[in-house]
Amino acid sequence: MSKFIVKPSQSLSGNIQVPGDKSISHRSIMFGSLAKGITKVSGFLEGEDSLATLNAFMDMGVNITRSGCDVVIKGVGMQGLKTPKDGQPLYLGNSGTSMRLMSGILAAQSFDTILTGDMSLSGRPMNRIIKPLTQMGAKFDSTQGGRPPLHISGGQNLSGIDYQMPIASAQVKSALLLAAMYAKGQTTITEITPSRDHTERMLSGFSYPVSVVGNQISMTGGHELIAADITVPSDISSAAFFMVGACIAPKADIVLKSVNINPTRTGVIDILKLMGANITLSNQQAIGGELLADISVQSSELIGIDIPKNLVPLAIDEFPAIFMAASCAKGTTRLTNAKELRVKESDRIQTMADGLLKLGVNCTVLEDGIEIVGNPNGFNAPSQEIDAQHDHRIAMSFVMASLRCQGEIVIDDCDNVKTSFPNFVIMCHEVGLNIQVI
Ligand code: S3P
Repeated sequence: MSKFIVKPSQSLSGNIQVPGDKSISHRSIMFGSLAKGITKVSGFLEGEDSLATLNAFMDMGVNITRSGCDVVIKGVGMQGLKTPKDGQPLYLGNSGTSMRLMSGILAAQSFDTILTGDMSLSGRPMNRIIKPLTQMGAKFDSTQGGRPPLHISGGQNLSGIDYQMPIASAQVKSALLLAAMYAKGQTTITEITPSRDHTERMLSGFSYPVSVVGNQISMTGGHELIAADITVPSDISSAAFFMVGACIAPKADIVLKSVNINPTRTGVIDILKLMGANITLSNQQAIGGELLADISVQSSELIGIDIPKNLVPLAIDEFPAIFMAASCAKGTTRLTNAKELRVKESDRIQTMADGLLKLGVNCTVLEDGIEIVGNPNGFNAPSQEIDAQHDHRIAMSFVMASLRCQGEIVIDDCDNVKTSFPNFVIMCHEVGLNIQVI
């Protein structure tokens, strides 16, 4: 298992473009595969997670060719997927998005499928999708407590449902919307609070009728998806590490180019701005139904805040990085209403708290969040070893701590950085971080 060894550095500078958005990359393969016609994708994320989705659809008979970040998908149409090769399970690695979204599609196919994943994915809750999809007529078997592997029985007839989401989750919402394309009648989903809306945008982009009114999304089954080219913007979740790095570095001036600023994803910008961050957006443009901008960030004097509840789902993947910012802010930052963080690739509240305590940060774990007493002088502990617990975002967040650290930080278990940000280390070098992989 690879480790990062990060030595202290003082400054961060440069113009970089982080890789393509993971959520949009997954969806581009799913929609492209089920569409009528050829879909060309540029800017596809070459991460292990999105490649797991790509390989799974190839295993189901879709002709997909890839040259780096350029992908061409020959759509097979709504009914064109085939039984996975030799009846093999589809292995989805670390990717919760692949498993949950694909469940919605596979629940409606004529053939059976088995979805498996790595140790982390095998421990993640699937009842959140199994329950409503079963209500639509799907048939699932899982291990106790609704954990993978998932056995999905083909040949079921799905019907539309009215579903009130019990939690904010784009993965659950998307699984239901994908199943709804195959269901008889209308499906209406009511969100308690908005979550990322890439699926709704892509449905429209692929000419599938969908209605979004306030917090309700409705669609009827039986329509077609028509191929549409996709330009994947840079992932704000990957940009977030450098945004935080620039905020906490004693000297920093960085530009992150062509980042997706879909309003259901920009919680990290809003939270950092509330903390006093020097962040500006420029060159805003709309491409293929998504908004993009260049994000400039300079060193900032951060202050602790109570993180507004409405921003939590809009920054759900960025909290490990935001905790780093909070650790270097003046005053206390308090996050609540974020229980979901406990069931991500790791328990992100506990894993972050364990690492922050090692770096000398005064923090208290709450059932649904964390309280962090920041220190504007940075991290005062000497050299430390941190366990990333197979979690890509934990590993990358602790790399940023090196901009305010006294000693070297060794981060264990960093292999999974490849799931979302395969060239992370190269980009760290480009902006002046002192990182080595062993
Ligand atoms: C995702 C939704 C979020 C997010 C995940 C990607 C998506 O998960 O954490 O990284 O692409 O729909 P939840 O729906 O579980 O919040």
